[in-house]
Amino acid sequence: MPTQTTRILSGIQPSGKLHIGNYFGAIQQHISLQDQGDAFYFIADYHALTTVQDRETLARLVSDVALDYLGLGLDPEKALLFRQSDVPEVCELTWLLSTVTGMGLLERAHSYKDKIARGLRPRAGLFFYPVLMAADILAYHSDVVPVGKDQVQHIEMTQDMAEAFHAAYGCEVFHRPEGKLSASGAVVPGTDGQKMSKSYGNTIEIFATGKPLKKTVMSIVTDSLGVDDIKDPESCNVWKLYRLVASPEETEAMAQRLRSGGYGYGDAKKELLAAIDAAFGEARERRAQLQQDMDYVEDVLVTAGARARAVASQVVGAAREAVGMASGSQASRPS
Ligand code: ADP
Ligand code: TRP
Repeated sequence: MPTQTTRILSGIQPSGKLHIGNYFGAIQQHISLQDQGDAFYFIADYHALTTVQDRETLARLVSDVALDYLGLGLDPEKALLFRQSDVPEVCELTWLLSTVTGMGLLERAHSYKDKIARGLRPRAGLFFYPVLMAADILAYHSDVVPVGKDQVQHIEMTQDMAEAFHAAYGCEVFHRPEGKLSASGAVVPGTDGQKMSKSYGNTIEIFATGKPLKKTVMSIVTDSLGVDDIKDPESCNVWKLYRLVASPEETEAMAQRLRSGGYGYGDAKKELLAAIDAAFGEARERRAQLQQDMDYVEDVLVTAGARARAVASQVVGAAREAVGMASGSQASRPS
C-alpha cells in the first residue's frame, strides 16, 4: 500500500517548557518539513505516562505542546498535529510487534540503559518504550522520521521490528522508515555552556519574556575577560547562542566586535536578548492569542487525530490480517 507522497512523522514528548535547544534541534525542522511532504506530528502522551502520573499535569502539558507548535508556525492545513492516545490502534500494534521482538534488542537500547545506569528502577513501560515508538512509526506508513541523535537507535530498532514481522508472517505490511537528523545536527549550549537540557536547569525558554528572560540571558556563563580585552567568539557562549537567532551579517558583526576589544559580555548579552525577542516575538504573540481560544486548539487535535486514526486503522488492520485475525473486527475502528 505505497503512499503517493513522502510521509513525515515525529512524536513530541509533552515534558515541560520548550527551550531554544528543542527549537533549533527539532521543532524548526518539524515545521519546515510541513512544506515537503505529508507531515504527521503527535504529542506522545502514552509515552509520557512513563514519567508523568498526574492527570491534570498530563492534560496541561499536552495543551502546552499544542500551543507551542501552533504558535511556532505549525499550520494545521499542511500538517496533522494530534494526540497519540487519540489513535489507540498504536497500542494494539505495540502488542503485535512485541511478539516478534527479541528481549535482547530491547535490552540494548541506550536510552533504557542510561536510565538504569542512573539508578532508576524501571517499570515495564519504560522497557517497552521502543516498541510503542516503533508502532507509532509503522502505523502511519512513515517514510521519514525527523529526530534528534538520541532517537536514532530507536528508529533502527523500528526497522528491525518491521523486518521481524515481515519475516514471521511472510508479508510486507509496513514501510521502512528512515531517520532524519536536523540539518545542523548541532548541540545548542545552555547558559552554563553544557548541552541545553531541562534536566540540567540551564535552558532559555522559547516563551519566556521580560524580566525572567533577561535574568536567564544575563546569567550565561562567560570567562573573566574585561571589556577592553580581545575575545574569541568561538569560545563565547553568548555568541554561540546569538548566531542561532541572528542573521549571518549580525552574527559576523558581533564576532568582529568581540575580536576588536572594547566590547563586553554584558553588551553581547543585551544584543542576544534583543535578537531572541525578535526571533520569537511573533510566535509568542500567536501563542498568546491561541491560548484565548482553546476550543480551536482542541478542534485541531481532534480533527487531526481522526484523520491519523483512519490511516492507522488501515495499516493495523493489515497487520491483524497478516497474523490471522479479522482485519477490522474492533468495534471502535472508524469506517
Ligand atoms: P531535554 O534534553 O531538554 O529533556 P528532549 O530530550 O525532550 O530535551 O528533546 C526534545 C528534542 O529536542 C529532541 O529531538 C532533542 O534532540 C532536541 N534537543 C534537546 N536539547 C537540545 C540541544 N541542546 N541541542 C539540540 N537539540 C536538542
Ligand atoms: N521518543 C521520542 C523522544 O523522546 C518521542 C517519540 C515517541 C517519537 N514516538 C515517536 C519520535 C515516534 C519519533 C517517532 O523525543
